[in-house]
Amino acid sequence: MNRQSKVTTDSYDGFRQILGGMDPQAFLRDYWQKKPLLIRNALPNFKTLVQPNELAGLALESEVESRLVTEKVTAKNKAQRWQLKTGPFTAKDFKALPKTHWTLLVQAVDHFLPQVAALRERFRFIPDWRIDDVMISYASDQGSVGPHVDNYDVFLLQGLGMRRWQVGGAPMAEEILIEGCPLRVLRSFKADQSFELHVGDILYVPPRFAHWGVSLGDGMTYSIGFRSPSCADLLATHMEQLLANLGEQDRLTDPWLKLQSHPAEIRPEAIKYVVDWLLSNQPNPNEVQHWFGKMVTSPKTGKEPGYEALSNKEARALFGRYVKQGSRTAKKPLYLMRSEDARIAFIDAKDGVLLFVNGEEFLLSKNAKNFVAVLAGAFRINPAGLAPFLPDYESLLVSLLQAGVFYITDELE
Ligand code: SIN
Ligand code: CO
Repeated sequence: MNRQSKVTTDSYDGFRQILGGMDPQAFLRDYWQKKPLLIRNALPNFKTLVQPNELAGLALESEVESRLVTEKVTAKNKAQRWQLKTGPFTAKDFKALPKTHWTLLVQAVDHFLPQVAALRERFRFIPDWRIDDVMISYASDQGSVGPHVDNYDVFLLQGLGMRRWQVGGAPMAEEILIEGCPLRVLRSFKADQSFELHVGDILYVPPRFAHWGVSLGDGMTYSIGFRSPSCADLLATHMEQLLANLGEQDRLTDPWLKLQSHPAEIRPEAIKYVVDWLLSNQPNPNEVQHWFGKMVTSPKTGKEPGYEALSNKEARALFGRYVKQGSRTAKKPLYLMRSEDARIAFIDAKDGVLLFVNGEEFLLSKNAKNFVAVLAGAFRINPAGLAPFLPDYESLLVSLLQAGVFYITDELE
């Protein structure tokens, strides 16, 4: 099966289902970044994709980001009520946990487990470059991370057990936090709505809506989280581009200078000159598309690649085997899989196709449009899907294979 990038009837129906029957366009118009939405039975008969002990196993690994949050209900003051420990953990840490009031949170589980990465496909009514990761938490009875505000959109999927969510009625411009608390917990929180989520239910929470989820018995929550570049990063990157083109010789010039009545005065003409110069450096779409594509596909900071690098020779040989043996008649067909942590996007530009892979840009001709649609659309590609694009794009595919953006396997989850 070759999944294409187009919104096919299949994916459209899938989006509709996960939105509780709502048209994805209506969701974007009425809820996305606007207001919370509870979707009952968004994933009917959902079975957790990770068992609690597997999640705990991941939290023992040094390359996995994890946290343990414990609420001390008997704490003397608010600052001591929420306690935070960061991973990696040891079995001893888990043994020392109390019966109730704790949560283990594991970041980017989708980058390590293909079955969790596959869950992201359900949310492709939002462009790929907006998705961040799937965090999974396991909570004991009454476990919670306290009332808080996030800067990002999140779909909270109940994966196991039950959880009561309370959500604020409007986005918070500024939050007042408990001082001295290692977690960003709100000093006061007034809920506008409260829901009990069961397995398969989803709660969508837009950025800056305060929320507080408390586990009712043991439970797991999957947070499908989104990212968006900060305004500071956008400006800084734009500035970096400008700075790259400026030399020491580029300076304020004032051939328009007139005699002033006071030599110490900075005249409005000087300020106007500066403003006019700044305005003449407006960003233009042709430049922005290059750095923006790289920015939004850049990997999570500090993450080491999770693969063994291949030599070019090994990658070429492997790709050759995939093309040759991986036909439909093969007993064990080989598939080209996108690595779970790969970030791929493209821009259909005026004079070509810009392909962005993990923060790198590849400039391709206009003819590459169909190829890029397949490459950036499918998480799993069989050789038949690629046949029309070979040998033209073979060297690009081999280098992506070598870089670990894709891998070849005969094992499907
Ligand atoms: C959790 O899973 O415990 C917390 C998720 C969140 O509130 O963002
Ligand atoms: Co949150």
